[in-house]
Amino acid sequence: MSDPESAILTALSAEEGSTIADTYAFAASHNFDHNQVVGVSKSLEGDAYVTLKELSTQFFVLQKEANDISTNGSQEVRVLNALVKAGDAGLSIPALQQEVGKDISKIGMGNCLKNKWAKKDKASGNLIAIVSEAKDDVREQLAALQAANGDPKALDDKAVQALKRRKLISLVTRKSYTVSRGPDYKPKRVKKAADLTKEMLDSGSYKTTTFKEYNFQTLGESVGGGYLHPLLKVRAEFRKILMQMGFEEMPTSKWVESSFWNFDSLFQPQSHPARDAHDTFFIKEPAATVSVPEDYYERVKTMHESGGSGSIGYRYDFKREEAFKNLLRTHTTAISSQMLYKLANQEGGFQPARYFSIDRVFRNETMDATHLCEFHQVEGLVADYDLSLGDLIGTIETFFKKIGITKLRFKPAFNPYTEPSMEIFGYHPDLKKWTEIGNSGMFRPEMLAPMGLPENVRVIAWGLSLERPTMIKYRIDNIRNLFGHKVDLAMTRNAPICRFEGGEEEEKQQQ
Ligand code: PHE
Repeated sequence: MSDPESAILTALSAEEGSTIADTYAFAASHNFDHNQVVGVSKSLEGDAYVTLKELSTQFFVLQKEANDISTNGSQEVRVLNALVKAGDAGLSIPALQQEVGKDISKIGMGNCLKNKWAKKDKASGNLIAIVSEAKDDVREQLAALQAANGDPKALDDKAVQALKRRKLISLVTRKSYTVSRGPDYKPKRVKKAADLTKEMLDSGSYKTTTFKEYNFQTLGESVGGGYLHPLLKVRAEFRKILMQMGFEEMPTSKWVESSFWNFDSLFQPQSHPARDAHDTFFIKEPAATVSVPEDYYERVKTMHESGGSGSIGYRYDFKREEAFKNLLRTHTTAISSQMLYKLANQEGGFQPARYFSIDRVFRNETMDATHLCEFHQVEGLVADYDLSLGDLIGTIETFFKKIGITKLRFKPAFNPYTEPSMEIFGYHPDLKKWTEIGNSGMFRPEMLAPMGLPENVRVIAWGLSLERPTMIKYRIDNIRNLFGHKVDLAMTRNAPICRFEGGEEEEKQQQ
């Protein structure tokens, strides 16, 4: 015959109220697969050609043993027949097993004794028939059920329970549908158009075309595109916090620096071990910078060689080719230095300023679970008249409080460019321990004086890595899972937005 779709529509075409009572029977009579009929019916329902009503039909199916009983009789009748045939002496159990088989004899014997069709002879132990024949109820019940297509109503409840107990039948529930005409029924399906085409517009056929309705429930196509890396999410949050604190972002968008800005301007002696190729990546091509501000260069050179502003300097021969060597910046403090130089020499003279940056730096490190050759530094500085160590501690406390670290400790440290210098330790509430989270200090006069900053201008500054708070925030324990070529892209795609609410948390606790 035809396909299920036209068969269904044809079946409903006879008159207004025609229905297909049960898709299951319909499929069977048309030789269709029922699942296919259901699929087509649902698709027709989607276009309102038909309305469906779910049917749930329960019926019994015969188990394997029941089929055997239907053809050969119940076990008890077969045992009885064997016993009747054996006559008055009856049969021993092995002989009975021989006759009807082990399984049949076991079940049949039990039922014969229970039905009082047979008895056990005490003297011989043989089974002897008491009746000469019996009606095979079980076989008849199964036959009746089969004739009624498993309809549970074909048998009384007691019989059903007995057959179920013997595991001869089991109940099956089948889902099917009653199909009737829907509001938009037509005897032939017209596929709705999904798109308006140029041809439709040209010919005007769009006026009579039926279009698919919009499906506002459907999920949109997933949008590909970029995702912010966790480091960038934390950077966005830090940037917001620092801007709220009145800090202005420094232009750090270059990775190659001269040794002059990276080290010399920071009063880091040219013999300092950090200036060794073991610690710093020097650039081969171009190996040297083109120029530095010459008058400032001279003042820096003098400060290194013989001091000034109360310092005796380092007392060595300051080398120009050492200062001009290009490198991958080892810290963003190279930019802080340039910004302070600009601040001292800008038109109108020095003005107080707050600067920050969050950008990449490079160090020739042995790589392990927490170290890579490149990382990102968060750096902040405040330049103003008569600042004190108290201002530095206060600024640092405000910043860290905003990123959720409320308990801080400071440990005296050494940096060539700061005095005093303090390492910053934070108590991590998750890890329940104190960890080093940053470095800080007040820039030395040997650094500030050659720039030309007024004498009582102090600069407080601090720096930390972006990686450490990011790893803590995103519970990443190996830096190689955060940054580099082995990073799982799905991690980037799925990383949640970063929010730091530590400060508010503490305020709540205090209330
Ligand atoms: N430049 C320092 C570092 O790389 C951080 C720092 C910045 C320290 C400013 C003191 C002042 O660790």
